[in-house]
Amino acid sequence: MRASVAVVTGASQGIGRATAIRLAREFSAIALAARSAAALGEVAEAVRAGGAEPLVCDLDLSDPGAPNTLVGRTLERFGRIDAILNIAGAVPQIALFEMTDEQWNAGMELKLHGARRLTIRAWNALKRSQGSVVFMSGSASLDPKPAFAAVAATNAAITALAKAFAEQGIKDGIQVNSVVPGPVMTRRRRSFLEKWAPEHGMSVEEAMERFPQEIGISRYGRPEEIAELLSFMVSPAAKWLTGASLRMDGGEVKGI
Ligand SMILES: NC(=O)c1ccc[n+]([C@@H]2O[C@H](COP(=O)([O-])OP(=O)(O)OC[C@H]3O[C@@H](n4cnc5c(N)ncnc54)[C@H](OP(=O)(O)O)[C@@H]3O)[C@@H](O)[C@H]2O)c1
Repeated sequence: MRASVAVVTGASQGIGRATAIRLAREFSAIALAARSAAALGEVAEAVRAGGAEPLVCDLDLSDPGAPNTLVGRTLERFGRIDAILNIAGAVPQIALFEMTDEQWNAGMELKLHGARRLTIRAWNALKRSQGSVVFMSGSASLDPKPAFAAVAATNAAITALAKAFAEQGIKDGIQVNSVVPGPVMTRRRRSFLEKWAPEHGMSVEEAMERFPQEIGISRYGRPEEIAELLSFMVSPAAKWLTGASLRMDGGEVKGI
């Protein structure tokens, strides 16, 4: 296996966890970032079992200093960074007319600014490795609704940010793309359904079952399916893929 190092944020749970474990088959080392040290420790075991050296970095990525720490620790331990996967996100799923400035700021501080700062801090290392970056958007950005306006707005900003980095990346030899998943069954999706269920006069169990057909898809996505796409996007086979925003949503978005 070539010496190559990936940094995965949001690696303790859901899509980030599945991605870190999948990338262990392709990269020689993976830095795992999220707040929960215990959950990251468990993911680290799986990464090691998958063939890569893990580095647990338990930090709060909404702290402006955290990306510096993450890049510094990764370079100190492994000496290079080949891929950044900006997956961490926890934008509050609160209705437009109820959401406070603090809640807006908290959501954007982590998902938008955390990812932006990490990518900037890692840029020189990525230039040296001619590496790649992926940002995580979401299908709410393509069909904004008042019930989840912050999710839609933040994800739309992420797509635009990825495009701006990609433009610079053409000059610097770094590929940058974003992914737009539809509903993937994770802790975050369950918390979405807990809010969606009473608004639609259903129990949470009913909502879990009915939601896919309500939005015109056959089933929820699995974190491992998004992980597979992300793994391709940071692989040598995808080197000419840059400035793209790739949807993987089971057909949720009906427009072209
Ligand atoms: N699931 C979906 O249907 C869906 C659809 C479209 C887009 N997405 C996007 O995909 C990404 C992952 O979502 P998911 O469904 O896998 O969510 P999840 O299961 O809730 O995982 C979120 C991850 O972000 C980390 N995180 C949260 N706050 C953090 C902080 N302040 N600092 C560092 N890490 C933090 C969490 O770890 P700790 O709690 O340990 O910090 C966890 O690892 C998110 O950006 C989400 O918006 C998800």
